[in-house]
Amino acid sequence: MIVTTKKLFKAAYGKYAIGAYNINNLEQAMGLFRGNLDSQAPFIIQISKGARSYTHKKMLEGLIRSAEEVFPEAIFAVHLDHGDEKTCYDAIDSGFYSSVMIDASHEDFDHNIATTRRVVDYAHARGIVVEAELGQLGGVEEHVSVSEADAKLTNPEQAREFVQRSGCDSLAVAIGTSHGAYKFSGTQALRLDVLAETQKKLPGFPLVMHGSSSVPQEEVERINKAGGAMKGAKGVDATQFKKAALLGVTKVNIDTDGRLVWTRVHREYFLEHPENFDLRPPGLVFMGEYAKFIAEKNDFLGSAGQLEVVRKALAEAD
Ligand code: G3H
Ligand code: 13P
Ligand code: ZN
Repeated sequence: MIVTTKKLFKAAYGKYAIGAYNINNLEQAMGLFRGNLDSQAPFIIQISKGARSYTHKKMLEGLIRSAEEVFPEAIFAVHLDHGDEKTCYDAIDSGFYSSVMIDASHEDFDHNIATTRRVVDYAHARGIVVEAELGQLGGVEEHVSVSEADAKLTNPEQAREFVQRSGCDSLAVAIGTSHGAYKFSGTQALRLDVLAETQKKLPGFPLVMHGSSSVPQEEVERINKAGGAMKGAKGVDATQFKKAALLGVTKVNIDTDGRLVWTRVHREYFLEHPENFDLRPPGLVFMGEYAKFIAEKNDFLGSAGQLEVVRKALAEAD
């Protein structure tokens, strides 16, 4: 069953966070649904602009609609990840997405608000909810001063004004993470102080954490041992997710870690089976490993075991 992220956030706020997983293909879709059902978790499927154009936007839509039939017990939202304004309208018009992200975080404060407001008005008129972003995600280089680094983070006071003026339903905050496999050059640290301050300014309002992959060192080592070259890859400590959830984070975005699982499985498989030229055997291993990976993440997020509670809450709200 496809629901809005708003409904999932209502059930989760202050208790746990929902995993928002990016997918691009059939094998990821199968592993994703299996993993979430194995761990009895509600979840969010994220589709990026790149994922929409990898094959054809209708292909992913068709895959997910089929998965909904194959796994009728699943409860999930379908979300456009990092949309620009045009892509948001296209996703909303498709009638498939229950939630879109307008990412105008590169624009100045007032323009970010104006762009977000336009998307919010368009989306809300069609029953769709909107995530926006304030602050700059991105790795902080060693030479950058503390004040320069802080300037990129979300300003809690501005966050309150942003939400009031833009009308967005959830807000992605910059608290020290970045996208990809190379997040921290020094110690791994989330700015939970900035998060706590933001929650004070926006009590009860759902916050979103991008760039949340953990880049497990064991995974990186296995990839490198099987021919990869990922030096110095580092991610977010997954034990921080529950702390972040208590501070208002209801959605945690994870993509890179799933790509690592894919890379490890395929590198190891072909190294161990140099004679093989069939895509299905590694594909089968991947689907199982991806499902296991999703279930483990949901344990860290606290969403594991929440499926029936959410189903009941949704039924009562109807
Ligand atoms: O935040 C970006 C996501 O990891 C999606 O990546 O644009 O390469 O699909 P992508
Ligand atoms: P990671 O690169 O840390 O997986 O972040 C994904 C993300 O934020 C998608 O929007
Ligand atoms: Zn992101």
